[in-house]
Amino acid sequence: MNYKDHYAHFLASPETFWAEQADRIAWFQSPQNILSRNERGHYRWYEGGKLNTCYLATDFHVENGRGEQLALIYDSPVTNSVKKYTYRELRDATAQFAGVLSNLGVSKGDRIIIYMPMVPEAAIAMLASARLGAVHSVVFGGFASHELAIRIDDAKPKVVVSASCGIEINRKIPYKPLLDEAIRLAKHKPEHCVILNRPELEVESMTARDHDWQQALHEAKPVNYVPVDATDPLYILYTSGTTGLPKGIVRDNGGHAVALKYSMDAIYNTKPGDVYWAASDVGWVVGHSYIVYAPLLTGCTTILFEGKPVKTPDAGKFWHVIAEHQVKTFFTAPTAFRAIRKEDPEGKLLQDYDISSLRCLFLAGERTDPPTLNWLQNLLKIPVIDHWWQTETGWPMVANMMGIEELPVKAGSASVPVCGYDVCVLDTSGKEVGPNEEGQIVVKLPLPPGCLPSLYNDDDRFEKSYLSRYPGYYTSGDGGYKDEDGYVFIMGRTDDVINVAGHRLSTGEMEELLTLHKSVAECAVIGVMDELRGQVPVGLVVLKDGVVQAEQELIDELIAIVKEKIGAFAYLRKILIVDRLPKTRSGKILRNVMRKIADNQEYNTPSTIDDPAILDEISSALGK
Ligand code: COA
Ligand code: AMP
Repeated sequence: MNYKDHYAHFLASPETFWAEQADRIAWFQSPQNILSRNERGHYRWYEGGKLNTCYLATDFHVENGRGEQLALIYDSPVTNSVKKYTYRELRDATAQFAGVLSNLGVSKGDRIIIYMPMVPEAAIAMLASARLGAVHSVVFGGFASHELAIRIDDAKPKVVVSASCGIEINRKIPYKPLLDEAIRLAKHKPEHCVILNRPELEVESMTARDHDWQQALHEAKPVNYVPVDATDPLYILYTSGTTGLPKGIVRDNGGHAVALKYSMDAIYNTKPGDVYWAASDVGWVVGHSYIVYAPLLTGCTTILFEGKPVKTPDAGKFWHVIAEHQVKTFFTAPTAFRAIRKEDPEGKLLQDYDISSLRCLFLAGERTDPPTLNWLQNLLKIPVIDHWWQTETGWPMVANMMGIEELPVKAGSASVPVCGYDVCVLDTSGKEVGPNEEGQIVVKLPLPPGCLPSLYNDDDRFEKSYLSRYPGYYTSGDGGYKDEDGYVFIMGRTDDVINVAGHRLSTGEMEELLTLHKSVAECAVIGVMDELRGQVPVGLVVLKDGVVQAEQELIDELIAIVKEKIGAFAYLRKILIVDRLPKTRSGKILRNVMRKIADNQEYNTPSTIDDPAILDEISSALGK
């Protein structure tokens, strides 16, 4: 079937389409309703179905002849080690760690937070949580204590699983002090912490609530999987919204398993036994979906890489991993290749490796800029596929569906709507716009299986953030257009979310943090174009009257606040002190205009501006 027919088949009856896809996973009990609505009118997929995601990702393959196949390869240039797990070994390790969690009182519905570097134990903890029907929330290891505390208070975990350290190129980051500080800051106090002691930096002092990973494993017995409802939550993943309070994206078990399995086939063209590598972090949605769950649900071999595209040890490391493990499908963020290209513009390091196993490269996390796309196409001579999605959806919304039909690539476009998503572009009044006209990118409800059923404990915010702007549609927060062939071009966020090296961050949150400083009267943080990271935040700060502190010292303090509270990866390195900020007459700060000035884009001076002369002051502060 070609893409057009496949998409038409979905559009004709989403329920029939998703009933067919549901037949492809091993339910303990088949769903009674393919699609239903709960008391608030929110859609639910596969009600009445019973399954276990960990069973499908591990035991199922052992029972079906894949026990000795590699399930997971941990490749860690920062510790100079490679470790491999067969499906049988992964199942056993997971069942054993589920025993640890069970000994600590974790059972179905309990939350556990996983705050870990890129080690296989992170994936094992996720799967063990799923095995028990518990709900994991993985917090990216680059987040500082303040962010971890916010997540602890929202998820209220019984147990936190962590490690002694992360390794950033050659710098060891002790996690335990960050975890202890987060628990001190949080109102909710988890009963237990399980700490993986890494030989690179062992934990010096354990408290009464801490358990050593190895010792706890030794004392545990393997635990069997617990059947859960399709609509039961598998995980919560917090993502940046427009304020300092992150959104707890919920993922259910049933829709997630069906959708990810479908995506591996239809989008990534990947079969059981293939080696699949997503170079991301388990703390982000790409890590959840395409390092852990989707490849394992499909019976692939997944690679968990603890390193960087450059400097671990060089810009040839990606090629090395692909060659060594015979990777067939590779997925990463464009920024990673911009970093490689900067160090090795002609791709000379590729000559040292045979990467003929590689069939396709997928890019997401930010728009693939045409120069990076062209560079990769010329270098690799394989399809290079930009595709668009979000933490909220958990799997791609717009892509070239390589398992259905390879369509021509158009530079700057993520290609066409994926089956399951009726993607539309609306104007501010909610009317669908014509080809090549820009508007808000939305998806007609219902969203397909695998997408967020709601926000954790916050149906009101779910409705307000995603459903109320355009009734009957999910609002993505991205703007863009469709061309005459139906190709979707994503042009960037239309809210206060920015994308820094593939990491999603809230400028609103950075503003909230900067205004905590005693000398700051008001401020605006904008995302400015950056050659390597795509965007970087820049803060424009107005000081209170009478501040006498030296300017550079103050700027350093402001930079340190964001690094300390969010994490260094937020990359707020530039603060400009200005006399005033451009505003509308009703007092709204004109961030969008400032962003356009910073990016050398054309802009119209808004008719509602309070004083147009301020724009010249801002231009000069931004060095324009
Ligand atoms: N734990 C602790 N600190 C972290 C961290 C982590 N997991 N990740 C990043 N940091 C810190 C870094 O140590 C660095 O700190 P420093 O400035 O004090 O030295 C800072 O955050 C910035 O890190 P990073 O963005 O990684 O910068 P870099 O210059 O080392 O590398 C790239 C630049 C582009 C190579 C890197 O950002 C990258 O690989 N990006 C791809 C990201 C990605 O895969 N995103 C997932 C979406 S699919
Ligand atoms: P996250 O939730 O962290 O995955 O970030 C999702 C956001 O990243 C989207 O809303 C987009 O703004 C951006 N994004 C992700 N992939 C792409 C892409 N292929 N093209 C353009 N923007 C993208």
